[in-house]
Amino acid sequence: MSNIDKTAVRNPQLAPQAMLEVQNIWKTYRMGKKSLDVLKDISLVIHKGEFISISGPSGAGKSTLLHILGLLDEPSRGVYSFNGEHIHSVNNRKKAVIRNKSIGFIFQFFYLLPEFTAFENVMMPALIAKSGGSAKEIEQRAGDLLTKVGLGQRLKHRPQELSGGEQQRVAIARALINQPDVILADEPTGNLDTETGREIQDLLQLLHHELSLTVVVVTHNDHLASICPRHVTMFDGHLKTV
Ligand SMILES: Nc1ncnc2c1ncn2[C@@H]1O[C@H](COP(=O)(O)OP(=O)(O)O)[C@@H](O)[C@H]1O
Ligand SMILES: [Mg+2]
Repeated sequence: MSNIDKTAVRNPQLAPQAMLEVQNIWKTYRMGKKSLDVLKDISLVIHKGEFISISGPSGAGKSTLLHILGLLDEPSRGVYSFNGEHIHSVNNRKKAVIRNKSIGFIFQFFYLLPEFTAFENVMMPALIAKSGGSAKEIEQRAGDLLTKVGLGQRLKHRPQELSGGEQQRVAIARALINQPDVILADEPTGNLDTETGREIQDLLQLLHHELSLTVVVVTHNDHLASICPRHVTMFDGHLKTV
């Protein structure tokens, strides 16, 4: 037993708190008469404040797992608990609330709304959330976040007027607008050149530290995987802890 574990046993309040926990989950697609197991008996506990990367070959099931963690999809079998709550017993409305309030998503292709400015894109999830605060508070937070990600001078730019790295910074600010506990990033540097990718990695690391976020990042990028304190790999629907 490590020293940390021993301390936790003596004082349960110091025990790391499970933020995302999957137990023996499977994801199976029916394809006519055949069935395809995309996730095979995966168990994983991610504690509050962890920064973990998931890598593995294309088709291994990484995005599927991330979508389940983000309540965008459901396992076919097994149990998923988000912050101690069994998701199986949560209705769709509450799931949408958890997704909007507690989880920030970052994707490879940014998915910004092209007709809106950077500032408007960042505000959008807060305007949709009923508990996002007053319009003034949301504007203040969006401006602060865009400044934090280095885009204080780009508020009025539309996505096509921004570089790839800048668009991903906007997407990161948008992911943070509702002050989530968890950031789920699916290949966030996959569409960026090496140097820009590094800047985005540094930003994720900084935000993880500053905001005590739980971060799960799916990546092919060896450097990004290497800066994460914890790393797991997936292969053909299985999870391997290294
Ligand atoms: N809706 C679906 N129906 C059938 N098969 C799917 C569906 N979505 C994903 N898959 C399959 O699941 C496997 C894992 O996909 P994915 O999680 O996207 O992998 P990764 O992100 O590791 O590249 C792939 O073989 C893919 O073809
Ligand atoms: Mg994927």
